[in-house]
Amino acid sequence: MNIAVLGSGGREHALCWALSQSPSCEKLYALPGNGGTAAVAENVVGMDICDSEALVGFARDHDIDMVVIGPEAPLVAGVADTLREAGFLVFGPDAQGARLEGSKTFSKHFMEKVGIPTAAYGTFENAEEAKAYAREVGAPIVVKADGLAAGKGVIVAEELDDALEAIDSCFEGAFGAAGSRVVVEECLTGPECSLLAFVTGGKAFCMATAQDHKRALDGDLGPNTGGMGVYSPVPIVTEEEHAAMVEVMEKAAAATAELFDHDYRGVLYGGFMLTPQGPKVLEFNARFGDPETQVILPRLKTDLVEVMSAVAQGKPHDIHLQWRDEWAACVVLASEGYPGSYEKGKVILGVDDAQALEGVIVFHAGTAKNQDEELVTSGGRVLNVVALGETFAEARERAYEAVERINFEGKQYRADIGAKAAAGREAWE
Ligand code: AMP
Ligand code: GLY
Repeated sequence: MNIAVLGSGGREHALCWALSQSPSCEKLYALPGNGGTAAVAENVVGMDICDSEALVGFARDHDIDMVVIGPEAPLVAGVADTLREAGFLVFGPDAQGARLEGSKTFSKHFMEKVGIPTAAYGTFENAEEAKAYAREVGAPIVVKADGLAAGKGVIVAEELDDALEAIDSCFEGAFGAAGSRVVVEECLTGPECSLLAFVTGGKAFCMATAQDHKRALDGDLGPNTGGMGVYSPVPIVTEEEHAAMVEVMEKAAAATAELFDHDYRGVLYGGFMLTPQGPKVLEFNARFGDPETQVILPRLKTDLVEVMSAVAQGKPHDIHLQWRDEWAACVVLASEGYPGSYEKGKVILGVDDAQALEGVIVFHAGTAKNQDEELVTSGGRVLNVVALGETFAEARERAYEAVERINFEGKQYRADIGAKAAAGREAWE
C-alpha cells in the first residue's frame, strides 16, 4: 500500500514510524513531515494540507491508496470528504464527524442527545446572555470558544470577573470566528484521563488510557502548552472508571452511525475528567492526540496499516487490537521560551545515544536539517523522548536517562512527568 500521512508533529512521526514497520507499507509520504519522519518516509513540503483538490491531485500522481489525516484542521476543512469522493481510502472522519472537535456546541448537543455524562452547560451567541448564565451559576466556571482555537479557547475561571472578561474577549474576537459562539459550563474537578478509540461502522475499539501534562512547568504550574509529557496506561484509573469510559466511547461510536450522514472512520479521542460522580467528558477530538500517540503506538502490537485500512474501509470485524504489557512514558524537550517566543536553529546532539538505551524511541516534533545536514530545532516542542519499561517506574527512569543524553542550547523539559500518578490517587485530592 502507498500511504500519505498529513501533518508535521511528534504524532505524525509516531504514525509514520508505526506504519513504516508494516510489511503492507510500500511507499510512505509525510506531508510535510519533519526531521524525524524523513528517516522513515519521504517528506513532501510546500503543500497546503487543507487544500482538498491539491491533495487529490497529489494522491493521483503518487498512486496513493490511503491517506491518514493527523491534525484537526484538514478534518474540519472536509479534506476527508473530498478524498473519499475521489475514491481514496481515508483514515479520519468527514467534516460532519470532525465537528465533534470543531464545534463545542455541536459536541455538547451530541453528548446531551446521546446521554453521555458531561459538565452542565449553556451555549450562547451573545455576551449578555452568556454573562447572565455565568452570574447565575457562579464561579468557578469554564468559558469555551466554540470553534478551533489551537488549544487556547478554554478559560477555567476561578473568579466570576475573569469569566465575564473571558466572555467579552471571545465575542470581541480574541479567537477570531471560533469565538462567535461560546459555551459556558460547570467547572469539574478530578484527574484528567484520555481514552482514544478507533471508530468505524459504529463500533469503538479502545486503545490504552493516557494522561497528558498541559502546563509548562513542574507541579502543573506556568502557562498551558500543547503538552509537555504523557504516560500510558494511567495507573490511578479504577476498573469501574475504565469500564464507564469504555461505555462512553462505545455509546458515542454507535451514535455516530445513527446520527451522522456518513460512517465515522478514524480516531475518536475522549478527554475525560474523573469526577467524584464518575468520568465525565470534557471534550471529544476527531483525531489522535499529540503527545498521547507517542506513548500509545509503541505499545500496539497489531499491524497499524491493517488496523487503519480496516477503519478506512468500514470493516470493524477485521480489527483485533493487541497491546504490549509494558508501560510507556514520554518527556517533551522544548525550546527555551516555549510556549512563548523561542529561537530556532539550535544544533541537537545525542539523539542516537538516547535511542541506544533499551526501550527508548525518540519522536521528532520541531526538528529540521540545516544546510550542513545537522539536526536543528525548528519548533517550540522539539523532541518526544519515549521509553517503555516493565513497570511505570522503569519507563519513567529510562525516559529521563535518555533525556540526559540529548542536548541543545535552551533545552527545557518537565522533571515530573508521571510523578503525581506514581504518588497515587491521593495526590489529586
Ligand atoms: P478542552 O479543550 O475542552 O479539553 O479544555 C482544555 C482543558 O481545560 C482541559 O484539559 C481541562 O484541563 C480544562 N477544562 C475544560 N473543561 C473543563 C471543565 N468543565 N471543568 C474543569 N476544567 C475544564
Ligand atoms: N494532547 C491533547 C490533544 O491532542 O488534544
